Amino acid sequence: MSEDRYCVIGNPVEHSRSPWIHARFAEQTGQPVAYGRRLAPLDGFAATVRQFRQEGGLGCNVTVPFKFEAAALADALSARARQAGACNTLRFDGGQVFGDNTDGAGLVGDIRAAGVELAGRDLLLVGAGGAAAGVLGPLLDARPRRVVIANRTPAKAQALVDGHATIAQGAELLACGLDDIAGAFDIVVNATASSLAGGSVPVPGRVLRPGALAYDMMYGPAAEGFLAWARAHGGIARDGLGMLVEQAAASFFVWRGVRPDTAPVLAGLRALLSAGG
Ligand code: ATR
Repeated sequence: MSEDRYCVIGNPVEHSRSPWIHARFAEQTGQPVAYGRRLAPLDGFAATVRQFRQEGGLGCNVTVPFKFEAAALADALSARARQAGACNTLRFDGGQVFGDNTDGAGLVGDIRAAGVELAGRDLLLVGAGGAAAGVLGPLLDARPRRVVIANRTPAKAQALVDGHATIAQGAELLACGLDDIAGAFDIVVNATASSLAGGSVPVPGRVLRPGALAYDMMYGPAAEGFLAWARAHGGIARDGLGMLVEQAAASFFVWRGVRPDTAPVLAGLRALLSAGG
């Protein structure tokens, strides 16, 4: 049986777990999907997409640093991609490129998989870069009571608040700097790149209510500092591996109209990583 082709495009891309995840989804659902990875030169994202389409590819995931370029390249955007200003998923519909963003759905899905309710809760989003922008809309759709965006550069947090004011769904939406976060929260999401820069967790432990969910959107060594900080301050620590699997499942749905079961795939991926695979 011939297979429909998809891939992840990024730079770097060689360590991406997406091909492994989508192979599990294809096995599980019986969908004829073959999923690879493509390294795009930093100045060659559009050319890489064009080449893949010419070869018969039906869609792709997009990762750093091309998510903004992907949104600019798309002919049509989903509402959530438009809100984020970025795409992690492209679908080639004949001559048209449809752009979507499943990162926020991935985060919300994994917070729910952790057994944590977002509706009516107080949430702190730390960071205001592309990662934060990509998830804020879907977080607001889940109807939290209060969302505070704290960032090293407060003006960027304020810009995110201003850009989402009309879709706040009744939530109190506030921006501040890292040193003036008021109160404590049920859920704290780390969307900063601080650990990659070798930095420590940029917020005080008092922002965690007892038993709060402390979520790092990264996984692996990059998340370890935040997870240790969360446990030391009475939080429930969770890394972003589940978000990775959930966003992949949401992309699979965009392409195939079929929703894979994520739990066994996440368990398998965790086992693979802890075995050093
Ligand atoms: P991404 O796409 O991963 O979000 P980005 O757009 O460069 O990358 O955003 C990085 C985020 O991490 C920003 O919120 C950044 O804060 P600034 O907006 O002030 O730059 C934050 N960040 C990076 N290094 C940090 C550090 N050492 N301490 C605190 N925040 C940091």
